[in-house]
Amino acid sequence: MPQLPFSYGSVGIHSMPVEILTLIFLAGAASEDPYAGSAFLLKPDKAYNPLPSSNFQVVVSHVCRHWRQTAIATQSLWTILHFRHPSHIKRGRIYLARSCSSPTRLLDILIETVSFEEHDDGRTLYDKELNQIFLTIIPQIRRWRTFHLKISDNKCKGTARLYLGTCGPAPFLETLQLYHFENYRTVEGLFQATYRPPVAIFGNSLPRLKNLSLIGVNLQWEKIQYLHGLHHLELALHSENVRISYKIWDRMLRSCPELKTLSLHYSGPKKEIDEPPYAWHVPENRIRLENLASLNLTDLGVEYLCTLINGMCFPALRKLSIELPDQDYSPFIELITRLPASTVQEFNGRRDSTSKLEKVNPIIPFMSKLEILEIRMLNCSLQSWTGLLQAVHGLRQLEVDFARVPDLFWTVFTQGYTCIPPAHRPAIEDEESMDSHKVLLLPKLEIFKFTAVSGEDITSALRYRHSCQGAYKPASQEWIVGWSDRRRERDQELDDLINRGYWIPDGINRASSKVIINGYYDDDDEDTEDEGDEDEDS
Ligand SMILES: *[C@@H]1O[C@H](CO)[C@@H](O)[C@H](O)[C@H]1NC(C)=O
Ligand SMILES: *[C@@H]1O[C@H](CO)[C@@H](O)[C@H](O)[C@H]1NC(C)=O
Ligand SMILES: *[C@@H]1O[C@H](CO)[C@@H](O)[C@H](O)[C@H]1NC(C)=O
Repeated sequence: MPQLPFSYGSVGIHSMPVEILTLIFLAGAASEDPYAGSAFLLKPDKAYNPLPSSNFQVVVSHVCRHWRQTAIATQSLWTILHFRHPSHIKRGRIYLARSCSSPTRLLDILIETVSFEEHDDGRTLYDKELNQIFLTIIPQIRRWRTFHLKISDNKCKGTARLYLGTCGPAPFLETLQLYHFENYRTVEGLFQATYRPPVAIFGNSLPRLKNLSLIGVNLQWEKIQYLHGLHHLELALHSENVRISYKIWDRMLRSCPELKTLSLHYSGPKKEIDEPPYAWHVPENRIRLENLASLNLTDLGVEYLCTLINGMCFPALRKLSIELPDQDYSPFIELITRLPASTVQEFNGRRDSTSKLEKVNPIIPFMSKLEILEIRMLNCSLQSWTGLLQAVHGLRQLEVDFARVPDLFWTVFTQGYTCIPPAHRPAIEDEESMDSHKVLLLPKLEIFKFTAVSGEDITSALRYRHSCQGAYKPASQEWIVGWSDRRRERDQELDDLINRGYWIPDGINRASSKVIINGYYDDDDEDTEDEGDEDEDS
């Protein structure tokens, strides 16, 4: 055996050079990026859940003296200042002291306060705590990189207005998220919460702003200069009276050519039909968002949505996420998928001649390139639904909550559809499918994630899908089925599918023809169960 260059006695973890230990600490703290999924940590309607690893630097600093000294000396371990509990105020000051000597270490800040009614002294943050937090962090304003603030009533709102209105510019702020949640479900409540005109914040100077999320919060739209060059934009929970004017909306989007994600949740521009250069409904002057990859539409009235989408164009869209309940959204679905009747013959079967298609319906070409479609809720006719799935024929991933769409939506996966005129149907050679002339929806689908479908229906869809193989070469496929302990043993067929997967019955090479069926934990389902239990108790 070759001689080791050092003696065994010194191989313990304590002999590890400080530089390497530091790197390990940094890697550990960065192992889960809270910003991996989205630039915006706060979600409308949801409580903020910190990542399990968010305490990593504290844990390693408690192991031994050596580790503690090393961790404390590593300034960039202490730049995340999240305030959700009164103890976090003291913690924040300690972190600041540890990261402070280096003025270039930028800070990620999140503050979550509650309303007066919800406030529990010693457990939650309210106005007094908010004042203390601002006094701690405002002196560091030149180091803010991200700032997420959730407030839940007018008192805290006043405090936030005071500090943000006087703090001056934040030269390195890249992500700004302001969330005012207050009984927004009634228009009345929202009006009460928003009638005060907005103040200028950050001295109207945020030169590095890239990501902006405003939830129930309004800005001095007319005066701010920093609404350009954005990459991620979210507007949520704005009643008509506080919405951004169409003029500013138009100007803002046109000056954000790099915009990658746009999320609208019961928000968007105000209608201003009388102002000619910026009037809605100007298809010849659509706002083109060349780099928009992801669009998220939640809770928008159907007419409003149609007008909005008609004024825009997203040639690079890859992901569409929708939650559109309570109305009949067939007109919207048709707007983004339908060919004018006169051109159906011309285009069916070859929807890839983009330039020609753009003339008849500029939205269709991007729908055909869509890769991910997430349907959290949708109401539309079966015909529109089928049309949608036909239009997105390049789709790789589909997610649908079948508990929140009309009952018949699953049938298109078990019976196919007959929308394409016979002349345009692909030739079907294998005998089994000859009789039915089935055409397969979503031929490129790799991941299908859904919930609220029985084992029997899933099997039936899998059989159907693989009876259409003449036109279809499955690569790898995974169906991910909503699942919970509550469902276990209620549906034997579903249990079997999840345990064993599904073997394509007529596959030539069985080994490569298995469809993986995975269960995923369906949180909503658990919530429903909890509510049910409460009902039983009372
Ligand atoms: C904000 O957007 C920029 C540009 O896309 C991105 O690099 C950055 O990571 C985003 N910030 C956060 C906190 O996600
Ligand atoms: C879309 O927006 C809704 C509501 O604002 C949010 O709950 C959801 O997580 C978003 N989805 C994606 C894929 O960003
Ligand atoms: C859903 O849409 C159908 C028409 O497609 C309509 O008749 C029905 O009222 C809508 N349901 C809801 C709950 O809005």
